[in-house]
Amino acid sequence: MMLMTMKRKPPPTSANAKPSSFTFKRKYTASEVASHNSTTDLWIIVDGKVYDVTEYVGEHPGGDAIAKNAGGDATEGMHGPQHPSRVFDMLVDYHIGDLQEDDDKTK
Ligand code: HEM
Repeated sequence: MMLMTMKRKPPPTSANAKPSSFTFKRKYTASEVASHNSTTDLWIIVDGKVYDVTEYVGEHPGGDAIAKNAGGDATEGMHGPQHPSRVFDMLVDYHIGDLQEDDDKTK
């Protein structure tokens, strides 16, 4: 009897998927973000959104410029002339949630 060759189902491709858009996003207070302020646990706020860039910080062409803003608002630094628009596309991958708005009053 001839064995049927089972065609293996390819694993779900992530090539075109944007995992971040399916991930549950929550809101964070500024003080919660501030507690993630080391190079092994590094969050930043950019335009009211919270990003966990821990995985990226070591690759940053701008050296420790990110680390200097660890746990804080890096909006100004991000919008500097050193960052072409593709840098903002990269940021999407690190988005974990948004800043709780009423927490922003202290600024
Ligand atoms: C406070 C936040 C940040 C500051 C102050 C900052 C600063 C800088 C500086 C000074 C450079 C220029 C390096 C050089 O040409 O010698 C640079 C380049 C770059 N940064 Fe940042 N950075 C920040 C955050 C980020 C983040 C969060 C990302 C990505 C997730 C990023 C991605 C890049 C990339 C890709 C370049 C190279 C751009 C190019 O020349 O094509 N940066 N950054």
